[in-house]
This record gives sequence, structure tokens and C-alpha cells, in this order.
Amino acid sequence: MQVNLAEAADLLKRGKVVAIPTETVYGLAADARNEDALREIYAIKQRPADNPLIVHIASSEQVLDWAETFSPLAQKLAKAFWPGPFTLVLPAKSAVSTIVRAGEPTVALRVPAHPIAQQLLQQTGLGLAAPSANKYTQLSPTTVQHVEDGLGQHIPVLDGGACQVGIESTIVSVVGEQWQLLRLGMILEAEIELIAGVATISEQKTLPKAPGQHLLHYSPKTPMQLFSSREALIQAATTETNCAALLIGDGKIDNGLTFNLPNNPAEMAEKLYDTLHQMDALTVTKLLIETPENSPEWSAIHDRLSRASYKVH
Ligand code: TXA
Ligand code: MG
Repeated sequence: MQVNLAEAADLLKRGKVVAIPTETVYGLAADARNEDALREIYAIKQRPADNPLIVHIASSEQVLDWAETFSPLAQKLAKAFWPGPFTLVLPAKSAVSTIVRAGEPTVALRVPAHPIAQQLLQQTGLGLAAPSANKYTQLSPTTVQHVEDGLGQHIPVLDGGACQVGIESTIVSVVGEQWQLLRLGMILEAEIELIAGVATISEQKTLPKAPGQHLLHYSPKTPMQLFSSREALIQAATTETNCAALLIGDGKIDNGLTFNLPNNPAEMAEKLYDTLHQMDALTVTKLLIETPENSPEWSAIHDRLSRASYKVH
């Protein structure tokens, strides 16, 4: 059910859940201080209660409404990457609902750049908890159509067009002057390191891990297989009776539908989930996916593709 900005703001203020656009993916938003509304998000998504939500705020000025500390390093990162596809995990104020942070001592905060998300945050004055607007483990939505297909027509949705970043935000945990990457995204580790002036702390040291980062995630329903070699993909296609392929750049397979995405990380990310949604809607038995080169600019796309193709044995 589509709603306009004023209706969305009104629903959110009354403790209802609304799917909203952001520049990364659509979020299933609710007032982050309203525990009934937060429970509704988990129920609609069928999300385990140990997987915390990101709180979206209008600007860095609101960080200290949620976080106990906003260290100089966290401030530097916020200044460089907000508004944008970047989430900071900081020590939480004790008043922050344990539901939104799933019992963690930290809270995840993001200032989205999408103009409609910004207007909504400013008009409501709320912090909006918003996970991606899809059922648990399914593909994230980047259009209103994806939200409606995944969650049903009864969820109020605010249309903001197709998401331009296309994959979920980069998540960084900051404790004092140390930081750690918790989820890869289109803001790269090297860019963060440049701003931070220090390298990420090593894996062994214990900054909080991202809970809820299960391997099986962002998955289409159709089985997916990844290929780093175009030749191997073409060869595999000849042995399949009913498949579709996703190729990077030009080219096609002979015995199935081919989808092509640009050989450029930002452009591929923008279209990735939409293409996987389209491929998943076909009645084929397998999706053959060509993977990009192994370089840092492609790391977030590799991450999403490997999670999407992960199968429980
Ligand atoms: O781009 C995005 O981040 C989108 C849009 C809607 O903003 N949101 C999104 O939310 O991807 P979600 O719930 O699908 O993923 C958020 C992830 C969780 O899986 C969890 O690992 C991490 O954020 N997270 C949230 N709060 C955390 C916390 N306190 N500590 C560590 N990780 C946290
Ligand atoms: Mg998600």
C-alpha cells in the first residue's frame, strides 16, 4: 500500500511500521524508541531477536541522543561519510531499547543521504530503526515493487524510486580510537583507513562483532552458482536444461536467458539486487553468476554474491 510523505510521517509518529527508501536499500522503519513498533519490525521480517537494527538519524547532532560517547575518531568518520551508505556502531546509552540493539552494549547509527529519508527524519524528529525491508535471509529490496513482492501489499510503502547505491551500508565499529569493519559496503576499507589515519585493528582483538551476519543471507530462492571464469560458466550452461546467467560486461550463453551488468563496481552494485530479483522470478532451476575480479573495489559485491549463493548442506 503506497503512502505519501505526510502519511508516512504520521504513521511513524503513531508507532506504525512503514517501508521507506534510502540510498542503499529500502528499510522497514519504525520509531526506535517505541518497543511495540520495534517488535512489529522483527515480526514482519521474521528476524531472530539477536540480530540488532540500525537507527537512522537526521544528522550527527543526534548521535549523543543514542550513543554514550562520540569519540574524535567516530566524529572524523561521521564527517567524512555522512550522510551516506555508512553505519557507525558506538557504545549505547543505557536508555536505548534493548530490542533495537538486541541486547548488545552498542547501537548502530546511520545518517542516510536519500532526500526522502532525510525529509522524513526531519519532519518526524524521530530516530528510525530500519533493517532492510525484506524477510529474513531473502534478497534486499531496491524498489517499491521488491518490497511489495517480498512483504505483501498490506505494508505501507513510501516510494523514493530505485536505490542508487543498491547494496547495504558499510558498517564500522568504533571503540575510542580503534575501529573495525563489521560489514563490507561501497565505502571501502582503504577510504576509511585514509580518514582514520590508523589501520583497522586485527581480527583477533575483540571489538564487538556484527551479530546476525549469517552466511546464508541476501539469497534468491533459485539455487545460484558462482564462476570466476567465463569459460567455466559457459561450459556449465551447456549441461543445464533450464538456467539463466548473469555476465559482467557483454556476452551471452546459448541455451538460457542472459543478464548483463556493467563492469564497474558502483554501477553493478546499483543494479545487482534488481537483476537477482528478476532472475529469481524466472522459472529456471539454476542461476549461473559470473564473479568480478578480486580487487578491493569489488569486495562488497563478492561478499553479497558469496552469501547469496551459500547453501546449507
Ligand atoms: O544500508 C543499510 O544499512 C540498510 C538501510 C535500510 O539503512 N539497512 C540494513 O539493515 O542493511 P539490516 O538490519 O538488514 O542489517 C543491519 C546489520 C545487522 O545485521 C547487524 O549485523 C548490524 O547491522 N548491527 C546493527 N546493530 C548493531 C550493533 N549494535 N552492533 C553490531 N552490529 C550491529
Ligand atoms: Mg538485511
